[in-house]
Amino acid sequence: SLPARVTVYEVGPRDGLQNEQALVPTAVKAELCRRLLDAGLPVVEATSFVHPRWVPQLADAADLLTMLTDQIGDRARELPVLVPNERGLDRALELGCRHVAIFGSATETFAQRNLNRSLDEQFAMFEPTVRRARDAGLDVRAYVSMCFGDPWEGEVPIDQVVDVGRRLFDLGASQLSLGDTIGVGTAGHVTALLGAFTAAGLGVDHLAMHFHDTYGQALANTYAALRAGVTTYDASAGGLGGCPYAHSATGNLATEDLVWMLHGLGIETGVDLDAVVATSTWLAGELGRPSPSAVVRALGGT
Ligand code: HMG
Ligand code: MG
Repeated sequence: SLPARVTVYEVGPRDGLQNEQALVPTAVKAELCRRLLDAGLPVVEATSFVHPRWVPQLADAADLLTMLTDQIGDRARELPVLVPNERGLDRALELGCRHVAIFGSATETFAQRNLNRSLDEQFAMFEPTVRRARDAGLDVRAYVSMCFGDPWEGEVPIDQVVDVGRRLFDLGASQLSLGDTIGVGTAGHVTALLGAFTAAGLGVDHLAMHFHDTYGQALANTYAALRAGVTTYDASAGGLGGCPYAHSATGNLATEDLVWMLHGLGIETGVDLDAVVATSTWLAGELGRPSPSAVVRALGGT
């Protein structure tokens, strides 16, 4: 049977915007976060404390959080932010963030390209980051990228993904988000991967799925993960997104497409679909191009 309730983990302000070429004004990002919270999204990942040269779009991370704190008070502290290392954590702690996420790679090539570290070296970077975050009482999520295929290495062995996942849990992550960074995964692969995690004693209770929709498989993959019992799904309003360091990565699973399917299945999310569509339609105007989401196109009226 399928879960009765699912947590939609909104990554639009971070994953959705990080690949945008034209700089989006901080005030627009703040409005995006507020509108998504108002639409009932229980988690809204706001930004990343990464090196500004690596992701120029998110160089205003501190300004955004300061602006949001002025606008929504302590709720701003609950929005998760990405931190790759201790320097990122320090910046997040200064602003009072309560939820941080590290982001690891299941493959050697992507660890090099995204983190400037080898596969093994990434754990040495994460270890003090997670320990200090936990000591400060923060919750730490861990992403794993390239869980299905990697543009340079091809199909990624399931054992390799489980091994990286286990090492991230061992460091103290409370939840693992399994990323199909380039969207090549299919439903059978999802079932096999989740079966391997369960067999390794890393059950679905602490797993989230993070699908990109490059090959149009994200909803089918979500359905496979629902059947396996996963109850947290990452999605990006309007289907924006992609990783600047992953060749061939395109948009995330659109929040609207996900919510449409979940509600159709009778699964509760607490999300007001019309409010998310209105937000994506507004954002498309700000970005100057239509949303790639089929549901936004169908319901958006523009
Ligand atoms: P590095 O060059 O190896 O860094 O980059 P370093 O440790 O050698 O430090 C070099 C300089 O950078 C130092 O400054 C540091 O202080 C500074 P200097 O002493 O030379 O003046 N520095 C920083 N400044 C600000 N914030 C920081 C920071 N860290 C160091 N946090 C690093 C290593 C990890 C920093 C770099 O590779 C980086 O920023 N990578 C981020 C890449 C990224 O953000 N990718 C997108 C997110 S991942 C994703 O999208 C996938 C996901 O969605 C899931 C999926 O779809 O699979 C999550
Ligand atoms: Mg992503």
